[in-house]
Amino acid sequence: MKILLLGSGGREHAMAWKINQSVWANPLFIAPGNAGTAQCGVNIDLHLDDFGAIGKYCIEENIKMVVVGPEEPLVNGLYDYFQSHHILKEIYFIGPSKAGAQLEGSKSFAKSFMQRHQIPTAAYREFTIDNYEEGIAYLNTHPLPIVIKADGLAAGKGVAICQNHVEAIAEYELMIKELKFGDAGRKVVVEEFLKGIELSVFILTDGKHYIMLPEAKDYKRAKEGDEGLNTGGMGAVSPVPFATPGFMYKVEERIIKPTIKGLAKEGIDYKGFIFFGLISVNSEPYVIEYNCRLGDPETEVILPRLNNDLVGLFVATANQELNKVNIEIDKRAAVTIVAVSRGYPGPYEKGYAIKGLDGQYGKQSMIFHAGTKKEGEQVVTNGGRVFCVTSYGEDIREAVASSLEILGKTQFDGINYRTDIGYEFIPAY
Ligand code: AMP
Ligand code: GLY
Repeated sequence: MKILLLGSGGREHAMAWKINQSVWANPLFIAPGNAGTAQCGVNIDLHLDDFGAIGKYCIEENIKMVVVGPEEPLVNGLYDYFQSHHILKEIYFIGPSKAGAQLEGSKSFAKSFMQRHQIPTAAYREFTIDNYEEGIAYLNTHPLPIVIKADGLAAGKGVAICQNHVEAIAEYELMIKELKFGDAGRKVVVEEFLKGIELSVFILTDGKHYIMLPEAKDYKRAKEGDEGLNTGGMGAVSPVPFATPGFMYKVEERIIKPTIKGLAKEGIDYKGFIFFGLISVNSEPYVIEYNCRLGDPETEVILPRLNNDLVGLFVATANQELNKVNIEIDKRAAVTIVAVSRGYPGPYEKGYAIKGLDGQYGKQSMIFHAGTKKEGEQVVTNGGRVFCVTSYGEDIREAVASSLEILGKTQFDGINYRTDIGYEFIPAY
């Protein structure tokens, strides 16, 4: 079956690696891809916002399945575009409708959805220019810290956690009046701060049934000890030790099942991944955010732990037969550590030669590319997050040690990575 995978990050390299192992994948195309995905299939130069070009390519190449990695094309309605076309609608499409992608594309939609379906989340109010003054009064009496979120997509930067009222009002004004995040911040959600420990839970749903993928925890801050600026993610671990069967039972009963039922009840088409950004507050799960895709770098630890044929799961998703699937998870731990460019998440330079990527690192470890590209025979840096090293281990400590050993054998000018991924789960730290 000819498959087209959309995206170009570490997540997509991990998806391409996993799809490529499937008995169904023949061949795999990735658009636009990176130097790593080119090892798993054929990179195609398509822009993800050019739906016409994607559709035309699928028809010309007789693509049978489209898998969407990042959120933007979904939030912008790529699924709906395919559904509206008599040939494209026959293609298996893994990713939700525009309405379903609103779970990620609009914080306001996500919050009201959770309220409608009694899904535990932080208390909130929403404001625009129309009730601006009311918002100021609300902020002035709100307990600290205060969480302010731009409603729309803001490249992961649209959340401010404010430690005092002056800062909160300044941030509020910047979002609504100065349009710091453009149209995404015309509406803001002001939310209660939840104190706890975060984890990421992933499901694949066919709209009626769902399967649980391994859970993960990512490390968003740039510096060791969870300090420094927020990034797209500096590393991830799976499994998450505090995600006990008892905790996960609560997650399924209170969060996952009501979400699937809620989507169905509201008539929203959803065949794809849901990423639940959760926080455990005294062992009670709350939803911090929904995403309509897999996480990056979480995918780089969850897919290596999944023993099922991924394309087989996608076919079952398209046919609404996920209830017939048994999920098989590797018992080992997996850890990924991301190598980033000097300066990231601020400004950074690109184009540095990367050494050590094609070393023989055995079955314990693998390298997933993110911001890389080929220049002649040389792979060079092409982004802030450049590549990540995933390793298995009997426990998190062992997996971290293996990834660090390999990172020590790779090199590019300005390489930087955290050595403390998984630290809270390694007793000697
Ligand atoms: P989001 O973009 O919604 O994932 O938010 C970014 C980060 O802000 C999350 O990963 C949390 O660490 C933090 N955050 C968001 N909402 C809250 C909240 N209500 N309470 C505490 N932390 C939050
Ligand atoms: N690692 C978090 C995300 O993919 O949004």
